[in-house]
Amino acid sequence: MAETLSIPTTTDRKEIYDTLIPQIASLIDGETDLIANLANIAGALKQAFDFFWVGFYLTKNNQLVLGPFQGPIACTRIDFDKGVCGYCYRTQVTVLVPDVEQFPGHIACSSDSKSEIVVPIFKDGQVFSVLDVDSDQLNDFSEVDKEGLEQIMRLLEKTL
Ligand code: SME
Repeated sequence: MAETLSIPTTTDRKEIYDTLIPQIASLIDGETDLIANLANIAGALKQAFDFFWVGFYLTKNNQLVLGPFQGPIACTRIDFDKGVCGYCYRTQVTVLVPDVEQFPGHIACSSDSKSEIVVPIFKDGQVFSVLDVDSDQLNDFSEVDKEGLEQIMRLLEKTL
């Protein structure tokens, strides 16, 4: 397992995802501990992209409960019918929000958060968790992020 990440010095996110994805694959390969893998993925994404906030919410007792993350403190529990995370849980697809103020029901854990992407993670055909990434810039996420983050979540699912 690599102990340091190698990240290209570029602002081209596609290039960063292409370099990062095989490193995340080897980072979590053979590790079955959920918290260890979620923590390292959150750390790797923070280090590679310096996202404002990146972390996981886990489904527990009919709510989404905060898991490993990097960034400022965040809301601990989100009901399935609330927020972008709840919307992702219900629709089971990646949700891209270019402007959080335009998303009805968005939960503002931080007033600095301007755009957001939430990716579902599946186990046994059900949404097990969601990856939430927040930016302090408007319209900061694109199809490149969707594809890159979904690929990483497919790697994570293999360890579940
Ligand atoms: N904005 C999210 C809540 C989680 S925080 O952003 C970390 C939402 O609307 O579900």
